[in-house]
Parts: sequence; C-alpha cells; structure tokens
Amino acid sequence: MANKNAKPVKITEVALRDAHQSLIATRMTMDEMRPILPAMDEVGYYSVECWGGATFDSCIRFLNEDPWERLRILRKEMPNTKLQMLFRGQNMLGYRHYADDVVEYFVQKSVANGIDIMRIFDALNDPRNLETAIKAAVKEKAHVQACISYTLSPVHDNEYFANYAKTLEEMGANSICIKDMAGLLTPTATHELVKKLKESVSIPVDIHSHYTSGLASMSILKGIEAGADIIDTAISPLALGTSHMPTESLVAALQGTEYDTGLDLKKLNVVREHFAKLREKYLQSGQLSPKMLGVDANTLLYQVPGGMLSNLLSQLKEAGKEDKLEDVLKEIPAVRKDSGYPPLVTPTSQIVGTQAVFNVLLGQRYKMVTKEFKGLVHGDYGHTPAPIDPEFAKQILKGQEPITCRPADLLEPEMDKIREQAKPYMEQEEDCLTYAMFPQVAPKFFETRKEMREAAKVREEEKQKIGVDFAAMSHPVKLF
Ligand code: CO
Repeated sequence: MANKNAKPVKITEVALRDAHQSLIATRMTMDEMRPILPAMDEVGYYSVECWGGATFDSCIRFLNEDPWERLRILRKEMPNTKLQMLFRGQNMLGYRHYADDVVEYFVQKSVANGIDIMRIFDALNDPRNLETAIKAAVKEKAHVQACISYTLSPVHDNEYFANYAKTLEEMGANSICIKDMAGLLTPTATHELVKKLKESVSIPVDIHSHYTSGLASMSILKGIEAGADIIDTAISPLALGTSHMPTESLVAALQGTEYDTGLDLKKLNVVREHFAKLREKYLQSGQLSPKMLGVDANTLLYQVPGGMLSNLLSQLKEAGKEDKLEDVLKEIPAVRKDSGYPPLVTPTSQIVGTQAVFNVLLGQRYKMVTKEFKGLVHGDYGHTPAPIDPEFAKQILKGQEPITCRPADLLEPEMDKIREQAKPYMEQEEDCLTYAMFPQVAPKFFETRKEMREAAKVREEEKQKIGVDFAAMSHPVKLF
C-alpha cells in the first residue's frame, strides 16, 4: 500500500564521472562503459553523472576519445535517464576564466549533445562566477543544479551557506548541491545544514559527500532525515575510499521506509557485476591502488581533500622533501586564513597547497609567491569568503591594486579568435570548444583522431575485399 507520507530519495549515480575520477584518475574508457549503459538506463536513477569535470581533459589527453562523441553515445544508450555533467562556472572544464561568449556556447553545445542537468560550482562560492553559466543553462532549458562548495572555516557557518543557497535560487537554480569534496561533513553538521537549507530555499537539496574520511554514509542518513531530496552514490565496486557511498547500500538501508528509493537491487546487481569486473581489471593493472579505498584519517585532522594530499606528496617527492608533509599540512590553515579562507577545491586547492609547499621549503612565509596565489589575492578568481587583510594584500601584490569587479568582466569576447585558431582542425562545430579548453593538447588529439579514423577505414576496406576481419580475430591487431 502506498505510504502517503512517502518521500522517496532520488539517486544520482556517479560511476561514470566522479567515481572513476576519484579512484583511477578519470581513465574509464567508452569501451568499458558502453556495454552496461542499457542496463543502467533500466535502473530508474534520478540521474547519471557521466560528463564534465576531468572527463573531458582525460578523453583528449590520455584516451584519444572525442568527448563530444562520448556524450552522444551516452545519450543514445541511455534515452530514459537524465544525463548530468559537472561544470566549473566561468572556468568551464579548464583552468582559467573564459569570456562569457565561450561559456554560453559551451553550455549550449553541452545541452544540444544530450546533457539534462548541469551541476555548476565555483571554488570560492562567488555567485558572480556562476552567473553566465546559470543564465545560459536556463536559456537552454537544462536543469540547473548549483553547488555550495562545502568547507570549514570561521566564516563558513550554516547562515553563510543558506544565504548563498538563496542567492543561487534567485539566480535560477533548480536544485542545490552540497558539494563536500573532502568528506568533511559529519552526521550532525549534515543534519543541521540540510535542515537550514530546507528552511531557506524551496528547491530540492542534493548531498554529494566523498567517502574519504569514512563519514559519508552516516552523514547522508542524517541528511535524509533532515529532508535531503537527492543523494549521490556510486555502484559498490567503484564506491568507498575517495569515491562515494555505495548505491546498493543506500537503496537497501531505505527500503520499506518513507524514504524508499524504489530502486530494484536485482537490477543494480546487473550493473554491479559489470563494474566488479572492471574493478578487478583496474586493481590488476595497478590503475586502482588499494590505498585509495581505505579511510584517510589525515582528512579528518587537516581537512584537505584526498586528491590534494596526493598532489602535495608528489610535489614534495619531486623536491626530495617527503619528510616535510606534516609541516606543509600544518601550513595550509595559515595560508588559507591569509587568503580569505577559500574552500579547497580545484583550482584553489592547488593554489593554496603549492603556496604552502613554498612557504615550508623556503623556510619563510611568502618569500616566493606563485603567480596563481598572487592572482587569488588580486581578486582574479572572485571574492574570497573573508576579506583579505589590506596590509597582507599590499605585501603580496607589491603596490598593485586588487580588483573588485566580476573577473570575467575584464575579458573581451574570445569565441571568434578561438574559432579562427581552431579552424585547421575542425571536423565538427564542437571542436572549437575542445580547442578553447585545452589549446596545447587539442591539436595533437585532433591529429590522432584523424589517423585512427583513416586506419579504421583501411580496415573496413580490407574486410570488404577479403571477407575476413583480421583485426577482430582472436589475437586483435593493435593499430596504435
Ligand atoms: Co566529487
């Protein structure tokens, strides 16, 4: 009998984006995904996060896959499921601010190729950096899910997050995501934050909490009790560790309660079997390190995301100073305080982390300042959550005046220029956006794509001629 108090929790499955970005450096290929897409389409997820974030970069840099073609295949194979992407506001999927015309065009093409839900975030929670992306997504009739980049600091309390959420709702967001990239949410904090958000906005609230600290499933349950509408989970073989809580566990936990997701564990098991084989393959190839699957207690101590920790360690290794990790972790809170308490997420996690490394290795604070840290203090990334002390800004900027306008207001439209540069490579309209995002890597990718296509054509002709597909025989001929 239907429960009239039923408040089914919706599930966003992140296996095809965040899970493999968190566990195996975003290396899952289309060939590995494709066979399971029809079964995933059957499950009845609220949405499948499958594009954006680092997948675009990984496609052209490492996998020689056209990211736009990937999106079109995902769309074709999952016609009944909402496809979701992660979009870094004015940075899009790259690492700098782009002019508004590029952001608008990227959003337009993402939706045209199959995206339903655009999850949009800004590292500093500066709404001005989301403005153009939100407007463009609304215009394209996509669902806008705007994010709160969750962090802990003296200025980040529930009041602050609720005000930010209200602003996002007024700007046109259709739902709010609490983006807890480091897994800092505790059960009590989650309960209070979700409760506060539900009182402050009338749109659904999603919890995105990484498992890094081992807290996520406890926090998520408390968040659900406080009224969270949507939860991000990963199918079990790609869950836990730096990834997310397992989908099946949440489905089972809520079965028979007012929050019952309505998802069928048997259908999920079909999906699980596929990814279990992939997990085994990744473990054997060394792509998946068992280290990524455990609980990282350093996250609880130092409040840095798992990915940032491994970056710091490799920077220190390069300098032969691995023993300084502890000192750097202790330096990070000081650098964060000086720079107005930015949440630690791309790109601020790299900016703050690298500056902390310099401070420790040179034995003196800000003896050397990176270009990016200067940019952060200068206002190039937007408003910092707390104002930066003017004396400190003076010391870092050496007399240069900080900016207070929306950073993208200083950028001239750049789409025409990019299109001109991308022209020699373009085979489809979307190629100019690929070029815009990664101008150093894209030309090489375009060339390889052409070669691969020509090789496939030759193979097809041979097959026609002799009636045998040698490349498909038991010992596949690797063309590249
Ligand atoms: Co994430």
